[in-house]
Amino acid sequence: MKKNSYFIKVYGCQMNEYDKGIIKALMTKKGFIYTEKNYEIIIYLTCAVREHAVKRLKGNLRSEKKYVRVVAGCLSEMLKENLIKEKLAEIVVSPTAYKVLPEKIEDFLKTHENLFISGENYESYEDIIPEVKGKSSYITIMRGCNNFCSYCIVPYVRGKERYKSYKSIRKEAMALVENGIEEIFLIGQNVLAYRWEDFDFISLLEEISLLPNLLRIGFLTSHPFDLTRNIIKRMSNIKKLIRYMHLPFQSGSNRILKAMRRKYSIEEYLDKIYFLKEIMPDAYISTDIIVGFPGEEESDFEKTIDVVKKVRFDSAYMFIYSDRPFTTSRLMKNKIPYEVAHKRFETLLALQNKITKEKAFETVQNKPIEIFPFKKKGDMFLGKMWNNRIVAFSGQVNEKGLTPVILKEVRGWTPSGYSIINKEENK
Ligand code: 5AD
Ligand code: SF4
Repeated sequence: MKKNSYFIKVYGCQMNEYDKGIIKALMTKKGFIYTEKNYEIIIYLTCAVREHAVKRLKGNLRSEKKYVRVVAGCLSEMLKENLIKEKLAEIVVSPTAYKVLPEKIEDFLKTHENLFISGENYESYEDIIPEVKGKSSYITIMRGCNNFCSYCIVPYVRGKERYKSYKSIRKEAMALVENGIEEIFLIGQNVLAYRWEDFDFISLLEEISLLPNLLRIGFLTSHPFDLTRNIIKRMSNIKKLIRYMHLPFQSGSNRILKAMRRKYSIEEYLDKIYFLKEIMPDAYISTDIIVGFPGEEESDFEKTIDVVKKVRFDSAYMFIYSDRPFTTSRLMKNKIPYEVAHKRFETLLALQNKITKEKAFETVQNKPIEIFPFKKKGDMFLGKMWNNRIVAFSGQVNEKGLTPVILKEVRGWTPSGYSIINKEENK
């Protein structure tokens, strides 16, 4: 075991993946060493959004007692000192207190006193350049959420919305590009809510996309309520934009959407999706769906199925509803028995899997397309299309920028093919 060495395990969403880079930058400054083997300290970036994730994490915490266990992320805000009382962690740190984490770990190594570190809800980590590997990076531009969907724990554990300043985002993006990053994703619980002085989200996206040497820019996640025709049009004019839209619809039934406090009707949602498809026919559209929300009847579920058939999402994240602390839906009386919800889930999953696969086949065309390679896997490369769909290919690759590839088949779920550059010939 190396002294002062640590490892970070990420559960949950991209927000945690980004925070991994922030914590690494802060830990490096204090002399800690990141390693994937023989570490002394393990930092868990946890998720509290669904019950399932919490159970899995607790199992892991129990079996990893030999390390100094630091629990960060959303679960630390949900369970606070209880994680220490349950002997599941030595240190628990709120997602808003990472700046003091390295010095608190130092204290712990000296005193062996467990501690819970609470933070300030306005923290948005300005002026820290995350430590990242590879060619792609996230930038968290906003934190928290003001929407209070009735099933969701996020506003309670992540707090009110706050936004990173335009200046700081620009500085961070420039530093990342200078370090070799070619692709940036602007992320937040609902990026469309971004506001900073004269900037709203779309103007931020337009501005950052203009940075020289930045090849591709994307964003995640958007609340369909805040998406307008005007925004879609302006997006379609951004040359470097990754045509990938994650637009959670959650349920196809207006009655359920109302109980979820989603602020749109399914007709309004579909109207935006159809407009999007018209303006950006090549866009990859994904979504989130919850089945078994309290009060969901078979007829409501059928409406969800109907939307999936109509839109034909490229992919979908599908969940069985679970009660979460603090939320208002947990107090609703008409809960759906697990077996019923599970059966609906299986039906939905089978349908979406079929569509996901068909969509993968649709990308196989006998013409070269531009691929952004990001990883070598055996003797193949993994890369991403302009709409962020992952593909695999053999042959040679351009170290920087894009590689032309012909896709010829689908292996498993992944379109695959070969690159058509030949470096020898080009010499
Ligand atoms: N039960 C099931 N799924 C949930 N999600 C959020 N809260 C719950 C819950 N209580 C899902 C939503 C959201 C995604 C991140 O997680 O679909 O969009
Ligand atoms: Fe949760 Fe709704 Fe906010 Fe998304 S918009 S984080 S589902 S409260």
